[in-house]
Amino acid sequence: MILVTGGAGFIGSNFVLDWLRDLGEPVLNLDKLTYAGNLENLASLKGDPRHIFVQGDIGDRALVERLLREHRPRAIVNFAAESHVDRSIHGPEDFIQTNVVGSFHLLEEARGYWQGLPERERLDFRFLHVSTDEVYGSLGPGDPPFTETTPYAPNSPYSASKAASDHLVRAYHHTYGLPTLTTNCSNNYGPYQFPEKLIPLMILNAVQGKPLPIYGDGLNVRDWLYVGDHCTAIRAVLARGRVGQTYNIGGWNEKPNIEIVKTVCDLLDELRPDPAGPHARLLTYVQDRPGHDRRYAIDARKIERELGWRPAETFDTGIRKTVRWYLDNVAWVEHVASGEYRHWLEQNYKARGAV
Ligand code: NAD
Ligand code: DAU
Repeated sequence: MILVTGGAGFIGSNFVLDWLRDLGEPVLNLDKLTYAGNLENLASLKGDPRHIFVQGDIGDRALVERLLREHRPRAIVNFAAESHVDRSIHGPEDFIQTNVVGSFHLLEEARGYWQGLPERERLDFRFLHVSTDEVYGSLGPGDPPFTETTPYAPNSPYSASKAASDHLVRAYHHTYGLPTLTTNCSNNYGPYQFPEKLIPLMILNAVQGKPLPIYGDGLNVRDWLYVGDHCTAIRAVLARGRVGQTYNIGGWNEKPNIEIVKTVCDLLDELRPDPAGPHARLLTYVQDRPGHDRRYAIDARKIERELGWRPAETFDTGIRKTVRWYLDNVAWVEHVASGEYRHWLEQNYKARGAV
């Protein structure tokens, strides 16, 4: 079996669902169930003996030690993190605790477990750390995309905490020989994403006729990848990646935020027309994110060349699926958009004039 951490979050739950559907190898899923963790994402696995869920913290060393000893996974895939940049600006502490200290504790327990394995299992063991393109900082309009050798220049507490964990992973390979792999991916979108992030936030606000808050001038650029494609990339790296290496993952799909939001509006005009008028009437420019990175772009040629991975979805197919998913999954949306979420909207958007 494999140990997945953070497997009740957005990408982790997609990864677990796709893994069990396509490969069937059992998964031990360790997740703290913070505001971002949601067992409803995994509801279709209820009663499935291939999925063992444990609520707990990656920083709880006694728990991690026991889980590794009892279940003897052949690999660890570490998704667990605090993941939202705006939250890291309001309160960085949790980001340091989980992304830095938690990752360190997980690495320490992984090292002890791996060192005690018989030789054959030790050779096959992998620790895959899921990271982000944000560790590379911000690009100018004409700069070449990030490669695996672009120097780290994180700009937010979130990206700094992810950069710190990437460095620890690198050091555990270099110093102890732990068989690590690191992936640095661009912006994901798709089913089960918590609606604090751009695309689901815009879908939910638009269907409720609420303002669509565009930070700054709306011309910040991100590279967008459908979550299922991120999951196939991680699987390729886990199966065939070279130990100690990092792999950039991206969709070759750079777009300014305003274009993303207008695309969502156009799709909603088609799928859920509003008698009050086109959804784009709700576009509202608001105060910018402090330290807002201008542009991210990923050069994904290494993973394509070495592992033969390519995204299966185009942005057009992926965004259509995503908008439909949020329209079709009313119960999931209603449960997620409860107390804690409303509190976050107040905290983040009131001062920006968009509540
Ligand atoms: P998410 O916020 O949706 O989910 C994070 C999950 O981790 C939640 O289920 C949460 O309960 C769990 N968690 C948090 N702290 C924990 C702890 N201390 N112990 C155990 N579990 C804990 O995040 P996501 O968007 O699914 O991102 C997953 C990973 O992928 C993160 O490491 C993130 O940095 C990385 N990543 C995300 C994106 C993106 O666009 N969302 C892109 C590239 C990389
Ligand atoms: O690049 C990968 C990263 O992508 C991941 O590591 C992070 O976990 C993930 O959250 C994401 O970070 P971003 O900050 O790029 O994503 P977010 O959805 O928060 O914002 C996307 C862009 O949209 C960004 O330029 C800010 C802008 N934005 C966001 C929100 C929430 C708005 O204009 N309005 C908004 O209300």
